[in-house]
Amino acid sequence: MSQTAQNSVQTILPAKSFRGSVRLPGDKSISHRYAMLAGIAEGTSRFTNFSTGADPHSSLACMEALGAKVEKHADGTISVTGTAGDFRQPNQPLDCGNSGSTMRMLSGLIGPHPHTFTLIGDDSLTLRPMERIRKPLAQMGARIDLVDGHAPMTVHGGPLKAISFDTPIPSAQVKTAILFAGLQAEGRTSISESVRTRDHSEHALRAFGATLERDSNSMSIEGGQKLKAIDATVPGDMSSAAFFLCAALLFPDSNLVIDDLGMNPTRAALLDVLSGIGLRIKPLNIEDQHGEMIGTIQVNSSAQLSGAEINGALSAQLIDELPVLAAIAPYTRDGIRIRDAKELRVKESDRIALTAQNLRAMGAEVVEHEDGMDVPGGQTLRGGKVDSGTDHRIAMAFSVAALRAQGPTEVHGAEAAAISFPEFYTLLNSLAER
Ligand code: S3P
Repeated sequence: MSQTAQNSVQTILPAKSFRGSVRLPGDKSISHRYAMLAGIAEGTSRFTNFSTGADPHSSLACMEALGAKVEKHADGTISVTGTAGDFRQPNQPLDCGNSGSTMRMLSGLIGPHPHTFTLIGDDSLTLRPMERIRKPLAQMGARIDLVDGHAPMTVHGGPLKAISFDTPIPSAQVKTAILFAGLQAEGRTSISESVRTRDHSEHALRAFGATLERDSNSMSIEGGQKLKAIDATVPGDMSSAAFFLCAALLFPDSNLVIDDLGMNPTRAALLDVLSGIGLRIKPLNIEDQHGEMIGTIQVNSSAQLSGAEINGALSAQLIDELPVLAAIAPYTRDGIRIRDAKELRVKESDRIALTAQNLRAMGAEVVEHEDGMDVPGGQTLRGGKVDSGTDHRIAMAFSVAALRAQGPTEVHGAEAAAISFPEFYTLLNSLAER
């Protein structure tokens, strides 16, 4: 099992304002998909602004183990020469590190290949539910062994047949695993989802040359399709931007510009929620690249922050942003209530429990629910010691909350930020005015 190192401490001092202009590393979700599809495509794909996070690099390493050639160039671009649809039997387990996306999406991609693959991950990934992947892939004909529903996962691959599948929980990773398997199965695979989850796989598959049909909340893909390499720029990561957008929200004279940001509508619900709370957002120059919207936004904050109710489909669409919204909720007037977000309990950590624990450690009141939490507004946080629990989004969420606390905050396990956003602390310190 791979391990996650822990224990670096970042001390975050209160700030007076949050101002500046940034361009963010490429979107983690899109980078995973580009890495995997380039790995199975024919030819050499070239990516600019590929994510610098450890997770998508786990996907690249798995592609290498499966026979693709990955080159990381000095100018930051990455090229992947694919296997033209022919993964080899890896000679060691595929190490997915901390990345649920790698393990889940990859299992669908490798399922149709006639080899035995073992997928492993770190302590956190080994606790995450994998039955949601086993079930549809088993219906397609793949035999998958799990240990009590968890990794290590062994995929006994072979020819798969198409299925029709209704996803019981909203999950873009599960949808992607089925689409990636369906691409190579016999027949036409269709998937319907009750909540429209992020659609990067659909755009990426089309960019690599596949045909895919979409009809409101269901999509279908014909098997036996071959992919061709692409050149692409990965848009900046909206879920990384979330930390800086929330920081900007906290200061009435903030002014933040984010260039080349991914604005895919299935990822942009955060902008609506933040503008409802009091962030003024000006989008500029939006364009389409391989089906993904990319643009510049300029934001500043209003003096009075209201609050938000997040539930139903919105909770699924904002799942990665909920920790930072909860962490800044005490500074709003009306607080933030989150429900229908039980999935937070099975992310890189139990994000409901850990968010509540850290809010309390900073002096806030919070009421925890099985599927969410109530964080009252109008509270003053004193700072204190918080713990990332090796979870990148928790480390970054509380580093942002610390900017408006009365005293310093020690973020323990801050190195976890590198899972999705290694530049986070450098950029945070360059934007926070003290
Ligand atoms: C992701 C989907 C979401 C999200 C994760 C990335 C993706 O997970 O939380 O960070 O890239 O498809 P689920 O599919 O488990 O909801």
